[in-house]
Amino acid sequence: QSPKVSPRPPMGFNNWARFMCNLNETLFVETADAMLEKGLLAAGYNNINLDDCWPLQERTSAGELQWDPTLFPHGMPWLGDYLHTRGFNFGIYTNAGNMTCGWYPGSQDYEEIDAKTFEKWGVDYLKVDGCHMDLQKGRTYYEEFEYRYKLWHKVMDKLKKPFIFSQSAPAYFSPNFHLDKNNTDWYRTMEYVRSNGELARHSDDIKVYGLNVTFEPGGHWESMMNNYGMEVRLARYQSCGFYNDPDFLIIDWPDLTLDEKKTHFTLWSSFSAPLILSAYIPDLTNEDIEYLTNKDIIDVDQDALCEQATLVSQDGDVDVLTKNLANGDRLLTVLNKGDDAITYRVPLERLGIDPSGPHKAKDLWSKKTITIRNAIDVKLRRRQTAIYRISPSRGKSSVTPTGQIFNTFS
Ligand code: GLA
Ligand code: GLA
Repeated sequence: QSPKVSPRPPMGFNNWARFMCNLNETLFVETADAMLEKGLLAAGYNNINLDDCWPLQERTSAGELQWDPTLFPHGMPWLGDYLHTRGFNFGIYTNAGNMTCGWYPGSQDYEEIDAKTFEKWGVDYLKVDGCHMDLQKGRTYYEEFEYRYKLWHKVMDKLKKPFIFSQSAPAYFSPNFHLDKNNTDWYRTMEYVRSNGELARHSDDIKVYGLNVTFEPGGHWESMMNNYGMEVRLARYQSCGFYNDPDFLIIDWPDLTLDEKKTHFTLWSSFSAPLILSAYIPDLTNEDIEYLTNKDIIDVDQDALCEQATLVSQDGDVDVLTKNLANGDRLLTVLNKGDDAITYRVPLERLGIDPSGPHKAKDLWSKKTITIRNAIDVKLRRRQTAIYRISPSRGKSSVTPTGQIFNTFS
């Protein structure tokens, strides 16, 4: 991939996990207005992406996709303009197979014509999903995916301005989806998508709000933890310009506590993952906006090294993650997955920092800076996550992290 198309992980909005097929022009107009007004655009959330279910079932006689004019009465070019004039990118969804996951027309064998249509509409960002893949020319399922996603890359490469290319291919070979206990196809898919586009949806869908926008409680925290666990296994693939995508940030699900939602945001930011909100933005509370616009944590997400934090230990309910930051600082993220409040001690050696210190450590939630030596004691409530930016004292060189489970440091 070329880091030029998306030098940092994309941030923005997508309707899917919150609204599924209940989308229309008004939703995107209201979302854009609210993102401006609430300071989300200023904080960096600058992509507004449509997901499935926007087209008509029939293509034009020239074979072009058409938007559903009852849902989008002013049309896609109008919506694109509306977003562009306010400073947003315009994102849309299609499918590499012959139908979308929601049974709308797919792009298989229409790649070139669809790319041109999207370009004509002013699209900047394209999610290409992988449902209903038709196996052609004797290709295997794996080969058809590889062929289609590489073809999409070729087609986009010829556009005046390439789209940010969000690829769902790895999700179709992920451990919960594909019965291959060594995950060979999952990893092979990651290998080619990393040089083929900007994003890789690599695992399950984050649990949606509910069918037909009727809230269904339960399973949302578990879904977040599942995707967190999948992301951890793929850190080695990420670099500036290509980001592992553990799916949307869910914000306004009534059964998630504020600590759980802040954990979601903290983990995704530690990963330098895309921060794509799926929520009804006009109704977000001040409390939600406040955590979603935490500048210190967004800076970690958007850090110039684009490293994905890796696990350095897992003890009981506590996961410790770390990564390098571009200015020489070190990130420390501590997750308490359990139901009890705890105090956990992290020895500095585990982060690859000279334990003698003294080092400064800024708590990116409380904004307090403390001085640390040897170890740092972290107090956490149920399902809470702490995040620190540690600035090693001058002249004390780093040592190699010990106890690293997934060895991905360069
Ligand atoms: C196609 C055409 C547009 C418009 C829409 C209506 O995309 O290219 O000009 O007619 O369909 O859905
Ligand atoms: C798949 C994707 C989701 C969403 C739906 C739309 O399930 O993984 O993110 O795009 O399709 O139908």
